[in-house]
Amino acid sequence: MINALVDKLCAQHSLEEAEYARLIERRTDETASRLAQRADAVRRDIYGNAVFVRGLIEISNICKNDCLYCGIRRSNANCSRYRLTPEEILDCADEGYALGFRTFVLQGGEDAWFTDERLCALLTALKARHPDCAVTLSLGERSRASYAALRAAGADRYLLRHETADRAHYETLHPAEMSYDNRMRCLRDLRELGYQVGCGFMVGSPYQTAAELAKDLKFIETFRPDMCGIGPFVPHHDTPFCGESAGTVELTCFLLSVIRLIYPPVLLPATTALGTIDPRGREKGILAGANVVMPNLSPVSVRKKYELYDNKICTGEESAQCKNCLNDRMRSIGYEIVTDRGDIRKPY
Ligand code: SAM
Ligand code: FES
Repeated sequence: MINALVDKLCAQHSLEEAEYARLIERRTDETASRLAQRADAVRRDIYGNAVFVRGLIEISNICKNDCLYCGIRRSNANCSRYRLTPEEILDCADEGYALGFRTFVLQGGEDAWFTDERLCALLTALKARHPDCAVTLSLGERSRASYAALRAAGADRYLLRHETADRAHYETLHPAEMSYDNRMRCLRDLRELGYQVGCGFMVGSPYQTAAELAKDLKFIETFRPDMCGIGPFVPHHDTPFCGESAGTVELTCFLLSVIRLIYPPVLLPATTALGTIDPRGREKGILAGANVVMPNLSPVSVRKKYELYDNKICTGEESAQCKNCLNDRMRSIGYEIVTDRGDIRKPY
């Protein structure tokens, strides 16, 4: 019965929402390893054993939002705030370029200092220095006009996790002033403006059940994102969800395999959160079907401050150490880090 669902997913890249829920609820270790094998095979068909790297620059932990799960939410008075200057951001990118990175991800809270004007100037400077690099932004919800201006200034990709495709669940994770509809509007606008777009969600977030996850999977099936960031929810001690349990490596890896099979070309990171809850979490994620890793290029002096959740890894190492460590980890499981832009390949 469950094997029939696996076969259907592999053949059709699609299941009914209720079937996704059943697949999740009735999964066994055997189902997980069958799915991982199939996911690995379709990924190898498209990308071989390549794992793409993206250099992550955490540009600011100042945020106007108050997401209940997030360690840098505005209500966390214990968070020590910082903002990198444009020069510091460009220095991080230069250092990354010398290490071989050809994609930079600028991520941060929704910090009003980063106006369109300042961001466009930064993008123009970054693209002038490194025209062969892709720039990904992950700066939250902005207006369509803002996304259009940033795209025109050189942004290639945008990561904006949808967080959950279930409206009621969204409302349990966010304060009333945040809106599910606006999050989804942003994703549509980004797609229409020609960005390569990434959505995603946390695995094991509070109140999440197989029914919510099935909606996430159906959303991914219909939206067909270029990138999809999924990682376990990890509690942060200074948030309302401090007492909740973390998501598991097992379910995260299972879902990575399912997502690879839903949309074979998708760029799928093995996230830092996965590496945080298990020392071999990122290796396990790659073996389950992920094909991207995102070493940290932020200055070591600010890394601990970008604390989305407790015990985040890679906060003490220099950029070169992070890259070498991931190189070794990927080699140890038979994969090779490649240093091109790592654009999506769409044979479909
Ligand atoms: N402000 C931007 C945004 O909203 O997309 C980017 C920064 S935000 C911190 C990036 C992602 O971190 C969120 O989309 C969320 O899924 C993830 N995140 C936040 N808190 C987390 C936690 N406690 N555990 C795991 N992931 C978390
Ligand atoms: Fe804004 Fe987390 S609440 S980045």
